[in-house]
Amino acid sequence: MGAQSAPPQTRAAPPRRRSCSPALGFGLWRRGDKHLNLTALRASNSVPGVNEAGFSRDCKGSLSGRLGNRWGDDVQLISTEMQPVSPPHSPPGLRGEHCVVQNMSSSLKGTKELLVFLGKSLFGVLEALLFTLIPKPRKNVAGEIVLITGSGSGLGRLLALHFARLGSVLVLWDVSTETNEETLRMAQEAGATRVHAYTCDCSRKEEVYKVADQVKKEVGDVSILINNAGIVTGKKFLDCPDELMEKSFDVNFKAHLWTYKAFLPAMIANSHGHLVCISSSAGLVGVNGLSDYCASKFAAYGFAESMLIETFAQKRRGIKTTIVCPFFIKTGMFVGCTTSSPTLLPILEPEYVVKKIIDAILQEQAYLYLPKFLYLMVILKSILPIKTGLLVAEYLGTFKVMDGFVEQKKKDQLKTNSVSDAI
Ligand SMILES: NC(=O)c1ccc[n+]([C@@H]2O[C@H](COP(=O)([O-])OP(=O)(O)OC[C@H]3O[C@@H](n4cnc5c(N)ncnc54)[C@H](O)[C@@H]3O)[C@@H](O)[C@H]2O)c1
Repeated sequence: MGAQSAPPQTRAAPPRRRSCSPALGFGLWRRGDKHLNLTALRASNSVPGVNEAGFSRDCKGSLSGRLGNRWGDDVQLISTEMQPVSPPHSPPGLRGEHCVVQNMSSSLKGTKELLVFLGKSLFGVLEALLFTLIPKPRKNVAGEIVLITGSGSGLGRLLALHFARLGSVLVLWDVSTETNEETLRMAQEAGATRVHAYTCDCSRKEEVYKVADQVKKEVGDVSILINNAGIVTGKKFLDCPDELMEKSFDVNFKAHLWTYKAFLPAMIANSHGHLVCISSSAGLVGVNGLSDYCASKFAAYGFAESMLIETFAQKRRGIKTTIVCPFFIKTGMFVGCTTSSPTLLPILEPEYVVKKIIDAILQEQAYLYLPKFLYLMVILKSILPIKTGLLVAEYLGTFKVMDGFVEQKKKDQLKTNSVSDAI
């Protein structure tokens, strides 16, 4: 467009709106169908009336400036207002050329971040594939201070014996002093040189904090925390006494909050720690006759997973998490429970489960579901129509698994009877 002599600028002239293209950040401005490169204009100083402040306000997105009557040689302009078509993304107060540089560099940064993200994601997938072919290296836990709650029997006791063989320092917590002392003796026989047994009711917050302080003074900073203590009511929801449901939550879930509060700060300070949550398959799918237990195990799972994410987001790479979800195990907790599909959902041997848990901890595996069919079950639950899902559950016999459950009172009675029979 050639130069034209413009009519004299007058204040009475109605202001015409100019728009700034969405590409403002890159210096492109539009007047009608024309685009101008503001940076170039400014560099050649060819727009009378446009000063640095004007550019600066452009970038804020609200230019209302008198531009004079000429944009270089090829653009006609009378006194006008310019407003961006879309809000620019530059921070306020920056000069035009700074906006350009800033937006280009943030665009480059965005591309770089995307490439790093894609590269790391690909690496993660390849690493996982590799470790399905070759075993992942195991960490050394000799000398680590391992605290196990509910160590007086079942999984807790077996875990203690395994860690004893691995040379760890053991801190054993159970509400039952007698059974816990027995585990202590067994751990010493298994080779543990430093074992400390504490009577602690994990359902009581104050008791957890008190015993935790004792542990810190007498043993040191716990580096592997295994929240394993658990109880089960095993009744249909409307038959569950309130206090038993509350107790399920206190032991199976809330105890995890208090133990994390007590031991996580030292792990963070040392940039070293491992948090292990013994949840359950009942923490992945609901089960009839186990409503309070399921709810508490879902809660424990959700809490542990949230803490995994929280420590990751805070870049606390030294803190690891392992969440364990097993189906029924022959420990005595679920005496009388059955499975009608032993191939897909077998009742598990405690030794097998504990070996898998130890492997998962040593290989810093985040999730462990046992048996493997549970991984598929979680996917099926998420994608199948509810009617089909319920049919599958019925076919697998999951509605009946609790029918033969023996309550704790009856278990105790059976134990007493067998002892008196023996006498
Ligand atoms: N046995 C199974 O079929 C099964 C299946 C999935 C998950 N789990 C979970 O595995 C964990 C271990 O179960 P288990 O089969 O070894 O049961 P278990 O009954 O043999 O052991 C549980 C231990 O926790 C202790 N305990 C209970 N209440 C406590 C409290 N308030 N404070 C401290 N200790 C307390 C008990 O005294 C006992 O020693 C539990 O969290 C359980 O929910 C068990």
